[in-house]
This record gives sequence, structure tokens and C-alpha cells, in this order.
Amino acid sequence: MTISNSSPLGVAVIGYAFMGKAHSNAWRNVGSFFDVPAFEQKVLVGRDAGAVAEAAAKYGWAESATDWRAVLERDDIHIVDICAPGWMHAEIATAALAAGKHVLVEKPLANTIAEAEAMTAAAISARTQGVQSMIGFNYRRVPALALARELIAEGRLGTVRHIRAAYLQDWLSDAKSPMTWRLRKETAGSGALGDIASHAIDQILYLLDDPVTEVSGRLQTFVDQRPGADGLEDVTVDDAAWVNLTLASGAIASVEASRVATGQKNSLRLEIYGSLGSLTFDLENLNELKFMDTTVPVREQGFRRILVSEPEHPYLEAWWPQGHIIGWEHTFTHQIRDFLTAIATGVAPSPSFEDGLNIQQILAAVEESAAAKSSLIQLSARATSTATEGA
Ligand SMILES: NC(=O)c1ccc[n+]([C@@H]2O[C@H](COP(=O)([O-])OP(=O)(O)OC[C@H]3O[C@@H](n4cnc5c(N)ncnc54)[C@H](O)[C@@H]3O)[C@@H](O)[C@H]2O)c1
Repeated sequence: MTISNSSPLGVAVIGYAFMGKAHSNAWRNVGSFFDVPAFEQKVLVGRDAGAVAEAAAKYGWAESATDWRAVLERDDIHIVDICAPGWMHAEIATAALAAGKHVLVEKPLANTIAEAEAMTAAAISARTQGVQSMIGFNYRRVPALALARELIAEGRLGTVRHIRAAYLQDWLSDAKSPMTWRLRKETAGSGALGDIASHAIDQILYLLDDPVTEVSGRLQTFVDQRPGADGLEDVTVDDAAWVNLTLASGAIASVEASRVATGQKNSLRLEIYGSLGSLTFDLENLNELKFMDTTVPVREQGFRRILVSEPEHPYLEAWWPQGHIIGWEHTFTHQIRDFLTAIATGVAPSPSFEDGLNIQQILAAVEESAAAKSSLIQLSARATSTATEGA
């Protein structure tokens, strides 16, 4: 696809720490690999003028700023990429959409259902004016997982019966790890649940395209006080979450998420079991997909390792020759590429804010279930949106 565009799109990124850096890296290199509309890295926004100016210079931004509202008023800004904490997503995204800016927002969409609903209404209204919006569930942009989705859609697994997902980290294993915005309900919404179980749940919806109808869950906070600026502070979010999902097809999914899984740094594993075959994925080997295909002769059966690095694999034609593997940061480049493509073509990207709201409803149902001894909560099924260019 060749994309032409008259005047360059002006981009602002809000937040310059972990995700601000990952997104900046993607903005900096996407045009070197993919055919995307012309854009300019205009402004990086933070709170500390000196620190954000330094980051802007390092990450390739023309300017820095400390007032995101003033940035939204600028006519030369067309895209706002929100890499700020969850409690700011709704306010910035709704203001940006109202100002006619295309919005990419980090996951999860918001901290509460009310915020997610307001954001979704704003996104639907903006879409009628050709203004696009998308959430940064970047694991949709891992080529091996995009390939998994294709194989499942082609029926290569037959009927999918169950899926196991585990997203495990250990950065809170040490009980002396200090308080951060991620450990307070009012700033983070929830703990491992919204932070990383949300990725796993989005991935299940993306891979199977099968809406969630029932939810049960359990949440646990193992370390309920941590050192803050003025002594010990209460931790008001979960350290770990266990979720069971029933999908509309009858398939069952289990999700485990933890930030206290000692020894696990950023382990995302997925296993999908169908009547004709199975797939497994491990983020620590993100260029690989394992495929068990029962349609081959029994004596040759077993999990086959597919090195997902061929030009015919999703996204990979743009990168290196076969076998020259890619990494985690490439998922953000693919994300920016898909978002820019959506803006240029006018085809709404996914995951949409509607998808984000759906995930927020699932997260809220997990909390409701956990508060009621893991009782089963019914949800009205909503399919995930599936447009993903390049995948
Ligand atoms: N996709 C992923 O894999 C992934 C990974 C980590 C975090 N996230 C998400 O990204 C978002 C940000 O997380 P993070 O880890 O980058 O957080 P962080 O704490 O590392 O960075 C937050 C940034 O927001 C900025 N900020 C806060 N208040 C601001 C204000 N009023 N004006 C301007 N900037 C402000 C801070 O200066 C900082 O640069 C969260 O929604 C988080 O859930 C996604």
C-alpha cells in the first residue's frame, strides 16, 4: 500500500518515562521501515520542564512542554499519544478528541467504567468526523501472535476448547519496594488486574474473536503496606489476580497475573487448545510460535517451532532478512504504523475504545466476583473489533 499525504501530521506525546520512551522510539523509527503518512515529532509533554526538555532532545522531539492543555490548543498538533498514568487518560483523551486530534492512549483505557464510557462516547462521536482513536495493547502487534490469530481464524486448531494465559512479573516481590502511583486505587484503578491481566484478556479476545459472557475471579494483595514518602502507606490494589472466562462459543479461558511472581520478569505465556491442534507462545521467545497440528501423520506429530521471521509473516516484510529477529520494542513501531495507516485510510483501527470499554467491564466483573467469593458474573457479550492492518 502506498500512502500519500499532503501536509505532515504534527504529533504530541504526553509522558516521557517508560511508555513515553517506548513510544518515542517507535515514532522515531517507524518511517524508516514502513510506508506511513508524513508526520513530525513536534512536542513531548511532561511535568518537570528540565527533565522533559532533556528527554525531548534525546528522543527526537522538536520541542517540550509542561502544559498538555495548551498543546491540545495548537493547530499544528493532529495526533495526541497519551503515555501518562491511567488516572489521566479520560481527561486528556476526551479533551483531545473534542479538539479534533487523533488519539492513541496507553492501556488500560481508563481506571473506571464511567471514565471508559465517556471516552468511548467521545471516540464514537469523533469517528464520525474522521478522527481516529486506538488503545496501546501492543501485544496485538507481536508478529507471532498475529500469525496465531490467522491460524485460528483459518480453522487450523478446529474448535478452540480452552486457553491458558499467564502474565507474571516480580517487581513487587520485595516487600520493601516503595509506593508508586501503580499501587493506589485512585491513580491506577487496580493492580496486576488492570496493569497486566488486561493485556492477557485483550490477547484472548484478539486471538479468538470470541466475546466473554461469564467471569469469575480472585484478587490478592500479599503486601498490604509499603514505604511511602511519610512512612508506611496502605496498598489499595491487588498484587495478583486469577480470572476464569467463559466465551460465547463455550470455550473457557484462564488468566493468571502477578507482580509478585518471584523470578518472573515479564513473562507472558499463552496456550490455545483446539480439537485439531494447539498453539503456544512465550514472550521471552517472541519470534517463535509452537504449533501442534493433528492433521499430520501421528508418527510425525509434536509441537513444531515456527520461527516467525519470514516476509510473509505479519509485519515482517518491512524488517530484516529471514532469521534476523526482532524484539519487544518493535511491537510499538507496528502499533504506530497501524495507527498512522488508519488515519491515512480512514479505516478505524483496533483495539478501539469500545474494545477498551469491554475489557474495563470484564475487569470490573472480576472485582465484583472477587468481592463475592469468586461467584460467576454474567456479561453481555461484545465482539472485539478486529481490523489490524498488516497483520
Ligand atoms: N503497553 C505496555 O506494555 C505498557 C507498559 C507499561 C505501562 N503501560 C501504560 O502506560 C501508561 C504510563 O505508564 P508508564 O509505565 O509509562 O508510567 P511512568 O510512571 O513511567 O510515566 C508516566 C509519565 O506520565 C507523566 N505525567 C504524569 N502526570 C502528568 C501531567 N500532569 N502532565 C504531563 N505528563 C504527566 C510523567 O511525567 C511520566 O513521564 C499507563 O497507562 C500504563 O498502564 C503500558
